[in-house]
Amino acid sequence: MELSRGVLVTGAAGQLGAALREEFAPANVIALTRADWDVTLPPPRDLPAVDVVLHAAAWTDVDGAEASPQEAAAVNVGGTLHVAELDSPLVVFSTDYVFDGRKGEPYVESDAPNPLSVYGRTKLQAEGAAGENAWIVRTSWLFGWTSANFVRTMLRLGAERDEVAVVDDQRGSPTYVGHLASAVGELLDRPRGVWHLAADGDCTWAEFAEAIFDESGLSCRVRPIKTDELGRPAPRPSNSVLRSERPDAPRLPHWREGLRTCLERLGA
Ligand SMILES: NC(=O)c1ccc[n+]([C@@H]2O[C@H](COP(=O)([O-])OP(=O)(O)OC[C@H]3O[C@@H](n4cnc5c(N)ncnc54)[C@H](OP(=O)(O)O)[C@@H]3O)[C@@H](O)[C@H]2O)c1
Repeated sequence: MELSRGVLVTGAAGQLGAALREEFAPANVIALTRADWDVTLPPPRDLPAVDVVLHAAAWTDVDGAEASPQEAAAVNVGGTLHVAELDSPLVVFSTDYVFDGRKGEPYVESDAPNPLSVYGRTKLQAEGAAGENAWIVRTSWLFGWTSANFVRTMLRLGAERDEVAVVDDQRGSPTYVGHLASAVGELLDRPRGVWHLAADGDCTWAEFAEAIFDESGLSCRVRPIKTDELGRPAPRPSNSVLRSERPDAPRLPHWREGLRTCLERLGA
């Protein structure tokens, strides 16, 4: 896609927002944080016309959404409706948590969603709110060099403790935001609709934690536990590995390659 007029990024202070800003930097990037545009409100009047809107703003507190479903919906569903009002080509980001995890193999685009949590339901509704003019990118287990994410949490805990307990009964594809942002660039030359864009390979959170400690030289041990032992408010799918069934889907590198790139960037 020709990006002569520029790109608008919502949620620009988030981890994916940071990667999208970098990836699209050769174009004119209008990067809006929540302070610039709270997407629960209609779009600011003075926004210039752009070639594409990359909507990365979202309520991402999965457990918090269980106690505040209306607030989560206002951001995820209401926010997407407001972004769609701009009437520009639009990329919205959705999640592996639209699936219930009961399928014994990776989820493809034609599988029926059945979210288990409030967060998953608001994201599925947001897919519907995005309209016909949108690419709907379902991705999973994002990590990057900014914001709160699993890699940064494990680096901190791994330096403080000898052992961490991590769940070993949820399987997914940890996806590096830099690899996702680059795949979004490729996607703009493909048809609109639903696309699964996640890292190649899969693992459990406990296996991911082990890889983080291995790659960063931390001697912390991982004690595998069950999801039930954590007692988190939001249910999560036990399998949410995403794959694309579309032959022309952009392919992302393996999660371990994403992890190495991220750790290098963090100096870890
Ligand atoms: N993180 C994951 O594992 C994951 C997995 C699958 C899909 N996704 C999807 O990927 C997208 C990007 O997620 P991310 O990991 O980059 O999340 P993130 O780091 O939490 O960033 C989300 C950003 O949205 C902003 N935001 C929240 N409410 C807003 C509002 N009312 N108006 C404007 N901005 C608002 C947040 O601002 P504040 O910092 O001020 O709150 C934050 O900067 C989201 O659509 C998410 O659902 C994420």
